[in-house]
Amino acid sequence: MTTLNRPRIQGSGILVTGGAGFIGSHLVDHLLQEGAREVVVIDNLFTGDEENLEAALKTGRAVLYRDDAELNTSLEYIFTKHQIDLVFNCATKALNYSFLNPANAFSTNVNVVLNLLELQRRGSFKALCHFSTSEVYGSAVYEPMDEAHPKNPTTTYAAGKAAADHAVESYVKMFDLDAYIVRPFNNYGPRQNYKGYLAGIIPITAWRILNGITPELHGEGLQSRDFIYVHDTVDAVIKLHGVMPKGESVNISTDNQISIRDLLQQICAEMDYRGEIVRKPERKSDVLCHNASNEKIQGMIEYSLTPFDRGLRETLAWYQQTIKRTV
Ligand SMILES: NC(=O)c1ccc[n+]([C@@H]2O[C@H](COP(=O)([O-])OP(=O)(O)OC[C@H]3O[C@@H](n4cnc5c(N)ncnc54)[C@H](O)[C@@H]3O)[C@@H](O)[C@H]2O)c1
Repeated sequence: MTTLNRPRIQGSGILVTGGAGFIGSHLVDHLLQEGAREVVVIDNLFTGDEENLEAALKTGRAVLYRDDAELNTSLEYIFTKHQIDLVFNCATKALNYSFLNPANAFSTNVNVVLNLLELQRRGSFKALCHFSTSEVYGSAVYEPMDEAHPKNPTTTYAAGKAAADHAVESYVKMFDLDAYIVRPFNNYGPRQNYKGYLAGIIPITAWRILNGITPELHGEGLQSRDFIYVHDTVDAVIKLHGVMPKGESVNISTDNQISIRDLLQQICAEMDYRGEIVRKPERKSDVLCHNASNEKIQGMIEYSLTPFDRGLRETLAWYQQTIKRTV
């Protein structure tokens, strides 16, 4: 038990929803390294990939169920087969999907967490770490955005994530559940989906350059983001497990801002691409600025951040290696 009376990661049975995805699969690796007894993954492989779990599955202490966490029966059979103490909820459908199927992007974000909260209310597991997103804040009303910043979602993806946060907070108030919220800002790193319309800016640009397709910039590219290396996020989530009070949320972010235009230029330089960049119209609902406050997390854990240049270099090297196999 931690000082919070929460089961420790070491020796626990842990469920990770969306664990074959980008952040989830790194989390699975770290949980296993921390000595989790068993890590069970439920992922419908919407954007996730079994290959992301290759190392984890080889340990013999991880299991993957290709199933839908929006269906409570799918979660229920997992709970009858496995002794689960802790749940990390990473399942989501990518932000870009909300421009294609706004209603489902919203409902996935809401239904998965409601299923989990109902299971927790019935005593099926002890503690829930729910993954929120900086997108719930919308464009900054004040800067840097701390945890008290108003929630102003500008997409149905973010609206679903904001609703999920409210669900977690209200279940804690109503039923005294041990649940809390971690709120990462933009993550980058190996294993982030690079395929098609749902891919984020770093992977899609790497994919385009490696396939001889011109990279794209939407609008002026002046919108800025706070990019954090996925290993730093997962390291923070593991440390927060021991100290995070129930019902609270915490930003996981850096102190750095980079504009999308500068980011594209940095990727091109790193990949030795000297061609043009195609200008596309600005995307509706693009949040202009995400300048985060990480004061709270700094006060809670020993917080170490990888310099962006190094993280980006490692990430692009991974894409070069991985995408080359498919080109
Ligand atoms: N990547 C980021 O920059 C970022 C930033 C802030 C917050 N987050 C949050 O972190 C969490 C993980 O994000 P990610 O970047 O790893 O995304 P991801 O798309 O790589 O992973 C999400 C996983 O959920 C799975 N999934 C989708 N619907 C499902 C369902 N109904 N049942 C089971 N599995 C389902 C997908 O197949 C995928 O593997 C999410 O909650 C996301 O909102 C991510």
